[in-house]
Amino acid sequence: MKKFTVLCVAGTRPEAIKMAPVIKALKDVPELNVIVLTTAQHRGLLDQVFTLFDIQCDYDLNVMTQNQTLPELTAKLMTGIDSVLDNVKPDLIVAQGDTTTVFVTSLAAFYRKTPFAHVEAGLRTNNLYSPFPEEANRVLTGHLSTLHFAPTQTSRENLLKEGIRAENIHVCGNTVIDALLETANLDTPLEMAIPDDARVILVTSHRRENFGQALDNICHAILRLSEKYPDCHIVYPVHPNPNVTETVTRLLSGKPRITLTKPLEYDKFVAVMKRAVIILSDSGGVQEEAPALRKPVLVLRRETERLAALRCGVTRLVGTEEDDIVREASRLLDSEEEYKKMATGESPYGDGHSSKKITAAIVEYLKTHQQS
Ligand code: UD1
Ligand code: UDP
Repeated sequence: MKKFTVLCVAGTRPEAIKMAPVIKALKDVPELNVIVLTTAQHRGLLDQVFTLFDIQCDYDLNVMTQNQTLPELTAKLMTGIDSVLDNVKPDLIVAQGDTTTVFVTSLAAFYRKTPFAHVEAGLRTNNLYSPFPEEANRVLTGHLSTLHFAPTQTSRENLLKEGIRAENIHVCGNTVIDALLETANLDTPLEMAIPDDARVILVTSHRRENFGQALDNICHAILRLSEKYPDCHIVYPVHPNPNVTETVTRLLSGKPRITLTKPLEYDKFVAVMKRAVIILSDSGGVQEEAPALRKPVLVLRRETERLAALRCGVTRLVGTEEDDIVREASRLLDSEEEYKKMATGESPYGDGHSSKKITAAIVEYLKTHQQS
């Protein structure tokens, strides 16, 4: 039987985490020749994930520069990705999510008339500027994709509303749960000086629409929480984007009961999520993972595309106003009853078998559409 070449592409930390189980599942299929391309839109953040999951990249475009602008990044990615496509001539390309890497990969695939499979398809806020530029990336990628792997029914419905054909949409859950369950099983110890009896509040932030005043507000809210709750300890792994590090270190470094760290390796981050009582975050992935670990997330954004978690009450949108963040965090820290309402363990993003379902659909597609 003909061997099919599948090119898997990832450029940032969350793509590597969510693609790692897909790459492994594809590599288990003898009829597939799996090639991995990293754009390295991220560098340090990305490399630590590939190391943890033992993934070797066949091509590395190494495009990251300090504080890269979107136009520079987009242009570099297009020529780099296209030259790899020219070399590899894949039968199908797979990428996950809504970063610039993913959007450009789908466009490069389209220019070569190569089928593109989109993992985590159909997420929408219906506000093109929030998250920015990710919402536009999702919509554009959605319309350039051949196969759509939607994590939830809501994502499937979003795609149907935009005219995507039902037979090309597969609801598979989110591959982040595959990665999370495997990693949580490692039971990596928490290597951090935190008093044993402290209640841990975990914080992450990196969204572009929060740069400036919103991130200032978030930091002031964290400071107030650390003063109001001396029995709590805040852990904040700071994203290396200079727009984030400058604000966070200016406002929070050296403060008692606040640990600012470099971004944590995924297994260490999972260990902190497990230890946390609540999580404050504007991350997409964290909104999907934390419910599976029974941890309430207060989402530091005005809107979210992760509606399944919001609807079952395991995450809550709190926005980026200082008073709102302090009030909603206090509600959970003060009341066991309020806490239990959110920490239900309901996990709407799958059962840890998404990658196998995606792989089966890809193999089926390739066999059905093979050129004789
Ligand atoms: C990117 C994605 C965003 C995703 C996020 C995950 C786009 C436009 N944005 O945002 O959708 O949620 O990744 O984290 O695709 N940097 C480093 N080392 C790293 C990574 C980043 O120093 O390993 C710094 C660099 O100065 C870089 C800057 O962060 O220029 C911004 O990186 P970039 O990939 O443009 O955007 P993110 O804000 O990380
Ligand atoms: N994460 C990590 N180390 C950290 C912070 C986050 O490994 O210090 C993981 C987190 O568990 C999730 C992913 O990174 O799987 C989310 O990445 P990010 O928030 O940067 O991107 P988003 O999901 O918002 O696109």
